Parts: sequence; C-alpha cells; structure tokens
Amino acid sequence: MVALLVFSSPGETLYRGTPQRLAVGNTWQVAQQLAARLGVAPTPIEPVTAYPLAYADLLRRAQGEQRRQALPALQPLPATVVAEPVWFLGFPLWFGEVPRPVMTLLRQVATEQRTVYPFVTHEGGGLGRTQAQLQAALPHAEIRPGLPVRGSRADRAGCAVDHWLMQYQQDLVKEGVFKNDRTK
Ligand SMILES: Cc1cc2nc3c(=O)[nH]c(=O)nc-3n(C[C@H](O)[C@H](O)[C@H](O)COP(=O)(O)O)c2cc1C
Repeated sequence: MVALLVFSSPGETLYRGTPQRLAVGNTWQVAQQLAARLGVAPTPIEPVTAYPLAYADLLRRAQGEQRRQALPALQPLPATVVAEPVWFLGFPLWFGEVPRPVMTLLRQVATEQRTVYPFVTHEGGGLGRTQAQLQAALPHAEIRPGLPVRGSRADRAGCAVDHWLMQYQQDLVKEGVFKNDRTK
C-alpha cells in the first residue's frame, strides 16, 4: 500500500551550521520516525556512485550535477516498493531543490498516478522549490503539502511528524495506509 523512499547523504551533514559526521543522516532520522508510525521500513535511494563523505566534496559534486541537470544512475530499487500507490518521499533540500538522484527516480515513474507525501530536511530553506518541482516531474500524481524539518532537529521531529500525519488521517485511512482514523 505504502512505500517510504528516502535519500539521505551518508557522510558529513550540516549540524547547527557546521559539517559533522553523524551516524545517521538527518533525513534518515525523520524517516525512522515515520517508519514507526506507518509500520513500513524505509527504502534507501542510493546512487550507483556514492556521494563523497567530506562535505566540501559533496557540495562540489551536487552543485555540478544540479548545474547540468544530471540524472545520476541509481542502485536498483525493489519493483514492488516503487509500484506502491502511496509514497512517503524524503530527501534533503539541495540548493533549494530536489536532489538530482531523487529526480532520477521521479523520471522513472513520471507517467504514473500516485499520492506523494514529501518530507524535506533543510538548514533554513524549508521546502524550497521542491513542491513545484515534484508536481512538474509527476504531473499525474497528487502531491500533498510536504513536511519541512530543520536538519539539526531531525532527531526531535516526532511532534512535527505526528501533526503532519494528523492532517491526513482520513486520506491515509482511505488510501489503506492506516486501518482506522486515529483522531477519533
Ligand atoms: C549539496 C547540499 C546543498 C544544500 N542546500 C541547502 C539549501 O539550499 N537550503 C538549506 O536550507 N539547506 C541546504 N543544505 C543543507 C541540507 O539540506 C541539510 O543539512 C539536510 O538536513 C541534510 O540531510 P541529510 O543528512 O539527510 O543528507 C544543503 C546540503 C547539501 C549537502
């Protein structure tokens, strides 16, 4: 019924303004909190050529890919997961936009209908232009208003996640993600 697809950089990430090596990336931390509530394991979106662990190198490569509008090749994703009609799709905000590896995935399913619940970690840019980008990339999909989480607070996003899900209780029941309306 539901897929939880997540792109999160594996190396250094911004934590309170400075690059640090975290055991788990910011977006992955939010995904874990969603996983517990949705009862589904997160599926990682991983490029064939992994991103550099050092922050400066990561920025350089990501910027080059964004300038060229590259579509980096991805490690194969389980077809049954990709085929799900409801996606929770998580990624970090990169230069105000959806990271290019996520765009690769969207290109693969561009003609399909589904409902997408985006969640985005950032360091001040919020959802940036991602909502419009997602809708343009998936013209037949319903893109629900996304959840922005400041990366440095990713480990304490539980309340924000609960609030966000609560808005969609009835939709999620209709979509078969939740068995019953938990607001009642
Ligand atoms: C290449 C790159 C570009 C980024 N661009 C932005 C940006 O435009 N706005 C913003 O608020 N944060 C930006 N950030 C910060 C990340 O969105 C933020 O640290 C995020 O939580 C990282 O998530 P992750 O650890 O799951 O990769 C950028 C980080 C990287 C590595």
